[in-house]
Amino acid sequence: MSIIFRFEDVWLEKNGKSILKNINFSVKRGEFFVILGENGSGKSSLLKLFNRLEINTRGNIFFNNEKLDEIPVKSLRDKVVMVMQGATLFEGNVRRILEIYIEKLGLKQTPEDILDIMSLSYENLEKNTEELSGGEGQLIAIGLAVARNPDVLLLDEVTSSLSITRGAEVREKMKHLQKNGKTIICITHNMENAVSVGERGIFLQNGRITRQGKIEELIQCFEKGDEQCNQR
Ligand SMILES: Nc1ncnc2c1ncn2[C@@H]1O[C@H](COP(=O)(O)OP(=O)(O)OP(=O)(O)O)[C@@H](O)[C@H]1O
Ligand SMILES: [Mg+2]
Repeated sequence: MSIIFRFEDVWLEKNGKSILKNINFSVKRGEFFVILGENGSGKSSLLKLFNRLEINTRGNIFFNNEKLDEIPVKSLRDKVVMVMQGATLFEGNVRRILEIYIEKLGLKQTPEDILDIMSLSYENLEKNTEELSGGEGQLIAIGLAVARNPDVLLLDEVTSSLSITRGAEVREKMKHLQKNGKTIICITHNMENAVSVGERGIFLQNGRITRQGKIEELIQCFEKGDEQCNQR
């Protein structure tokens, strides 16, 4: 497998605070890559670097061997799409909001097609976005991201507001996309999820990678607590 993303001594500083420090790792094309770590360890900040929602203050990030800061942001964000932690849609009628996204993103699908991706009822189209449950909103956001047919999907805790059944459906969908050549990079707190889908990953602690490798090894490290994770 070739490398799709490479981070070389990447740092992210904000308001004089180092949020990410000396980040070095690679993601291979077509793999299911998992980012683990405690609350506040820097996972979401790291994920945002992949599509330039955050910009590193030091080091280099490469996408397909091209420096990320040399790729036009629009073309990058067409290929690398993120579903945010607790993703919400703009306020308004669901059908109308989806039509706006479809037009803005130049998609071929209809609002019904977007709901079909995660098997949601069309009744949702007549709702106001405020009337959607947290999980329904999250599933629509996932449908929209998938509809964009990106090379890389960035998922920030997207199953945490979903039922067991719905969470499993999302994982199945992601596995299916991976089989079709997509690269999936996801943050999860749920170890069972990580083991069921992930292949390799990193463990973040206080803005640093303290472990990287196979998921089973990372999870053992997570379960043992902080001390053991400090040895590479
Ligand atoms: N704009 C900001 N300015 C200053 N500090 C920030 C900013 N955004 C995030 N941080 C800090 O960076 C650290 C990492 O935050 P981040 O959201 O990446 O953590 P996380 O691992 O995703 O946590 P969680 O599991 O709770 O989602 C936290 O200590 C947070 O307070
Ligand atoms: Mg987060």
